[in-house]
Amino acid sequence: MYYRDFGNLGFKVSTFGMGCMRLPLQVLPDGSTDSSKIDEAEAIKMIHYAIDNGVNYIDTAYGYHGGNSEIVTGKALKNGYREKVKLATKLPVWYANSYDDFERLLDEQLAKLQVDYIDFYLLHALNKSRWEKIKNLNVISFLEKAVASGKIKYPGFSFHDDLSAFKSIIDDYDWKMCQIQLNFIDEDYQAGVEGLRYAGSKGIPVVIMEPLKGGRLARNIPGDIRNLWDSYHVKRSPVEWAFRWLYNFPEVTVILSGVSTMEQLKENIEIFSKAAPNSMTEEELNIVDKVKALYESKTRVGCTACNYCMPCPSGVDIPRIFSIYNNAVMFDDFAGQAQQYKMLTDEGKDASNCVECGQCESVCPQNIEIIEKLKEAHEALT
Ligand SMILES: NC(=O)c1ccc[n+]([C@@H]2O[C@H](COP(=O)([O-])OP(=O)(O)OC[C@H]3O[C@@H](n4cnc5c(N)ncnc54)[C@H](OP(=O)(O)O)[C@@H]3O)[C@@H](O)[C@H]2O)c1
Repeated sequence: MYYRDFGNLGFKVSTFGMGCMRLPLQVLPDGSTDSSKIDEAEAIKMIHYAIDNGVNYIDTAYGYHGGNSEIVTGKALKNGYREKVKLATKLPVWYANSYDDFERLLDEQLAKLQVDYIDFYLLHALNKSRWEKIKNLNVISFLEKAVASGKIKYPGFSFHDDLSAFKSIIDDYDWKMCQIQLNFIDEDYQAGVEGLRYAGSKGIPVVIMEPLKGGRLARNIPGDIRNLWDSYHVKRSPVEWAFRWLYNFPEVTVILSGVSTMEQLKENIEIFSKAAPNSMTEEELNIVDKVKALYESKTRVGCTACNYCMPCPSGVDIPRIFSIYNNAVMFDDFAGQAQQYKMLTDEGKDASNCVECGQCESVCPQNIEIIEKLKEAHEALT
């Protein structure tokens, strides 16, 4: 296992961090699974295996597995395992409507985890508006009080918004770490590589989530992409290529890997035994670029999410719909993306709300035939 300095905090962490958002699930009598029903024995076995094999960073959150991830993680950290790791969890800021809510939620999390303190306490999934809202509720005083009382050690945040929002949040407080979504497809998405380098330039350790794009870079690999990977003289799995691309960046401190089986965990730990920064050659980086371009060539709609079309007067979330549609095609993941689309439907933002006013088409810099493409996406996703 490779270890990297956690910024200037004076300790090292394993480059592989155990993500506890996709733990193994119980198979119910009818053969189905329910994400809130973790296969506790197997999950604990996996967390122990990870720690026994050098992993010392564990990531969970209030909401994972319907609230049960913290409970199972806490059980796994009994019998001396707690002392061997840095534990990260996240405050569900969307449940906080007052200062007292912050304190109540933190105490609840400490109780669920059965620990006296949390190493990294992240404000979960910050975006521009959430950050403004909780700043007004004095979240910074709350964090400082929590550090002073010893309930948490290091405040941080996880992030889902655009690059400018990322930079302004980074600049707004003396963060001890941050967590961003990054993989070779999302190089320029959300905080992206530029955000990674921005945080790095300020000495803020960056933890990576969704390194395999939630598994999409590991499964259903199209033949032409597999051939490209295999064109290199050293044969590697697509998973290894994706992890290597990330740990090549010296600014990356920890890569969280969400694993659903013991086999995946063992494979990924093995891959991280080579996790040296600046270890990829130009030839290897070129192959990743070509694979990325090939994935991108499979997109159905050339939307760059510039948001010029927004807000839609009928509430249709146009860039999100195109992103879901493109993901479904690129990764042959219609079932998974249909679930994402259903969430938009529940919020009244799906394509069926389009009244064909054409306002979006008149401003789209890519000249996309938005009305037709929305119909196409709706049909494919429903
Ligand atoms: N703060 C936030 O907003 C936020 C958001 C997302 C994630 N996170 C954190 O970041 C962690 C990592 O993100 P992620 O879970 O999305 O990571 P990921 O690595 O992008 O995706 C994990 C999935 O990839 C597949 N996989 C992993 N290893 C594999 C292997 N060796 N072979 C084949 N498939 C493999 C598995 O999916 P299948 O078995 O289903 O194929 C696994 O569930 C999470 O667990 C969570 O702790 C935080």
